[in-house]
Amino acid sequence: MVRVGVMASGNGSNFENLVRASRDGRAKAYEITVLVVDKADAFALQRAENLKIPAFFVNPRDFADKQAYEREVIRILEAHQVEVVALAGYMRILSPVLLNRYQWNLLNIHPAYLPEFRGKDGIGDAFRAGVSQTGVSIHHVDEGIDTGEIVYQERLEIDAQWSLEELQSAIHALEHALYPRVLNDFCQKKEQA
Ligand code: GRF
Repeated sequence: MVRVGVMASGNGSNFENLVRASRDGRAKAYEITVLVVDKADAFALQRAENLKIPAFFVNPRDFADKQAYEREVIRILEAHQVEVVALAGYMRILSPVLLNRYQWNLLNIHPAYLPEFRGKDGIGDAFRAGVSQTGVSIHHVDEGIDTGEIVYQERLEIDAQWSLEELQSAIHALEHALYPRVLNDFCQKKEQA
């Protein structure tokens, strides 16, 4: 099994879903060994406690710069033998420190069909643009904002009657179906390599 660390900033529904998938048989090739968050009040911390996953809040303000902060994150990930890092609502751009350490073993999930609607509010931006389709993308991470190589993406039709909240629920449901599957496939291939 590939040991996966998750990084998040907020709610953590994708984090919880990745953990549950590894426990209920949906995903067999990975286990989530640790959660790292950059916000003291991230609800993901609560979820980790309930799920009994070791979780750490690392405050970027306690460090001189992003590089020093990420070195501490790496120390925690390595202490939990993390081989693959899954970003799940982690709202910071990574510096070369984390990028170089995990390189092709860093994945992110984005709630739009990249390269459409990059950035912080992929769902709201698609909603306001009035498009008839959006989607979900899982991609490698590079120094840009949602610019890394796509691993997998899927389209979602937007019902013209939907409110923003309804679109959000549909996107999150698709994310929860896809992320464990794609992470599992990725880890399976890694094990076979
Ligand atoms: C998800 O929509 C993800 O695509 C984006 O941030 C959101 C995180 O949601 N990067 P949650 O914290 O996993 O509930």
